[in-house]
Amino acid sequence: MSQSEAGRATREPPIWKGRITFVMAAAGSAVGLGNIWKFPYIVGENGGGAFVLVYLACILLFGVPLLMAEIGLGRATRANAFSAFKQLSARSKASSQWKWVGGLGIVTSYLILSFYIVVAGWCLYYFVVTVSGDFTQSGQTLTQADTGARFDGVLASPVLLIVASTTFLLTVFLIVASGIKNGIEKSVNWMMPSLMVMLVLLAIYSAQNGMFMKAFDFLFSPDFSKLTLESVLIAVGHSFFTLSLASGSMVTYGAYMNDSASIGKTALAVAGIDTMVALTAGLAIFPLIFAHGLEPTSGPGLMFISLPLIFEQMPFGQIFGAAFFFLMFIAALTSGVSLMEPTVAWLEQQFSMKRLSAAFLTTVSLCAMSLLSAFSFNIWDAKWLFGMSFFDGLDFLTANVFMTIVALATALFCGYCLKPEQLQQMFGHQSRIIPVFTFSMRFVAPAFVGLMVYAAF
Ligand code: PHE
Repeated sequence: MSQSEAGRATREPPIWKGRITFVMAAAGSAVGLGNIWKFPYIVGENGGGAFVLVYLACILLFGVPLLMAEIGLGRATRANAFSAFKQLSARSKASSQWKWVGGLGIVTSYLILSFYIVVAGWCLYYFVVTVSGDFTQSGQTLTQADTGARFDGVLASPVLLIVASTTFLLTVFLIVASGIKNGIEKSVNWMMPSLMVMLVLLAIYSAQNGMFMKAFDFLFSPDFSKLTLESVLIAVGHSFFTLSLASGSMVTYGAYMNDSASIGKTALAVAGIDTMVALTAGLAIFPLIFAHGLEPTSGPGLMFISLPLIFEQMPFGQIFGAAFFFLMFIAALTSGVSLMEPTVAWLEQQFSMKRLSAAFLTTVSLCAMSLLSAFSFNIWDAKWLFGMSFFDGLDFLTANVFMTIVALATALFCGYCLKPEQLQQMFGHQSRIIPVFTFSMRFVAPAFVGLMVYAAF
């Protein structure tokens, strides 16, 4: 079989320097708008503590094992997601059609990025507005109606949405085009630590100035009567999204991981950082929400409608607000990079394209794709999927449908197709974890996904 027939990478990809860089890059991918924007509002909408508990169980029971699986698939093949499945199915004499699982993962990351940049654009816009003092120095007391109207105004302007999201996309392009070592490795190494320091400072500030105990209670005392099947479904789906699973991202990053690092410990570290950031974001936001008598259940607008109101009223609100939106921007950036990388790595390896051309092609096509999401807030009000707008439909299709399929198929592939020697090779000297891993891939992950599909119907 020729090299290209086996779908093998035409060029060996570079390897991250040391274990820490991999943890930074993977945590940079995992920590994103999902943690700081989405997690607090879905906790708010789904009743708090009980939801957090279900979410933590999902992360531990199948999030971490799936993360290990994906990193392992990448490292064992040093290839993009499509080729990784292709090579491993060939080696284990399974059907070559498994490659489409990797293919769907790449499509998923590409489509997610096309609407992710729109939300990242909002963060950028709010950063600029807060820095310029537009919110904080308005001279009059803002009301929720004012900040709500402001947010609606942002959504209503196609030009503003396009300019903001394209600026974000170009920043992602610059990092990805600069390569694994000069672009991604260098940027995550300073962005991730600064993000964590900034978040902790914000949480300390808000603990001192807000209703910390009430927020703590809200996040950590479970009231199971508030838990519905639908919230379980949301928790399962969010655990894939927040750990960047089922999207080719972790397989692709795994391809750059060095051989001596322990996959189990690394996956635990990444999931630990991701969860800590989500909970810290909750502890930074909810004390202030409660102290200002606002509702924690206000949905996606929580960040863009409620928070500016708070920043306007508090001392040093301009600095605090600007730091907050900058933090969101950085978190989105490191995730955006990992959402573009699967497509770029695939183009590079499959068609022997230069990185710059691959990144350029991906960026230009994404720019066009993102118009559909941006327009669906204003000039194009078509409902294309179960009555949802293009933006909402794409979010649902990727995060709930595609990710579920890819996660389930990945688990089955690792649980039933890979041979013991392949697992041995994947985990190297940590082969003691193989039985637990296999159990999770064969039974636990499919059970959770089954529950999710059942809940959906
Ligand atoms: N995990 C990222 C977040 O929480 C989003 C993401 C999904 C990134 C899939 C890469 C792949 O925002």
